[in-house]
Amino acid sequence: MNNHQHLPVLQDEILQLFSWKGPISSYADLTLGGGGHLKLLLEAAPLPKRIIAFDRDLQILERTRSTLSKHFAIEYFHENFDQFAEKTSGQFDRIFLDLGVSSFQLDDSTRGFSFQRDGPLDMRMDPSRGQSAWEWLESVEEKELADVLYRFGEEGRSRVHARKLVHERQTKEIRTTKAFVEALGFRLDSKDHHGKHPLTRVFQGIRIFINDELGSLERCLESLPQKLAPGGRLAIISFHSLEDRAVKWSLRGKLAAVNKKVIQANKKEMADNPRARSAKLRIYEKNEA
Ligand SMILES: C[S@@+](CC[C@H](N)C(=O)[O-])C[C@H]1O[C@@H](n2cnc3c(N)ncnc32)[C@H](O)[C@@H]1O
Repeated sequence: MNNHQHLPVLQDEILQLFSWKGPISSYADLTLGGGGHLKLLLEAAPLPKRIIAFDRDLQILERTRSTLSKHFAIEYFHENFDQFAEKTSGQFDRIFLDLGVSSFQLDDSTRGFSFQRDGPLDMRMDPSRGQSAWEWLESVEEKELADVLYRFGEEGRSRVHARKLVHERQTKEIRTTKAFVEALGFRLDSKDHHGKHPLTRVFQGIRIFINDELGSLERCLESLPQKLAPGGRLAIISFHSLEDRAVKWSLRGKLAAVNKKVIQANKKEMADNPRARSAKLRIYEKNEA
């Protein structure tokens, strides 16, 4: 793993809207990652009595724990956030989710999240559970593969790619990012006319499917209105239209939306941090009892 920084997105907006009323006695970060947002919030206000952090990626959880533990008393959970209600008791004044993968995962070639680095095509956020991407690709039916690329990757050439992969795997092993990219007729450093890799959406679709990212989010969302304390706030940053839609529809009528329109990064942040370009923030409040 190299030392690439994960720049937390929408920092000013989160600080302003999320730490607006104090004191906060309990705080839950359900997507700890490098702990950037958590540290930002904990340093901005008096420390809550109870702080909990979830991440389904043990490697990241341990890495961040080793730095944050020196400064803060935090309860850590190596769990999918769909287990939030199951594994924790009581309600929280602030709940935070910053969905998707972190730069630490993308930069680690042994995890298979990035098609710009050769490595095993794993793509699991929690490699101790479930099937890796290459195992799934060995036997998935062409139609299912095309559907995954279309639905989760919004990939227009989903059928063409699915046909090609199914054809290529008859004669080749497709177990690495390089082998995968080459099977579809590209190289690791290929670029389209926007300067992006032509398989960006394909990779995204497979990652979302392999990690059941939408299912996890939908199950977690079910539990959030109940886990939020009266007067508390919930903030969710999503990076995919399907995620944003799930957030909006699941919470409608259950919590009050603080911002009527979704919040997006300003031009400067988008220019400085490419991840911020697709970030969408929604903040909700639970009425006082
Ligand atoms: C975008 S990063 C969070 C970055 C963090 N806010 C920061 O400032 O460093 C998302 C993190 O959430 C984790 N994650 C994604 N889906 C998860 C899920 N269903 N349950 C638990 N953790 C999840 C990922 O492993 C990743 O470390």
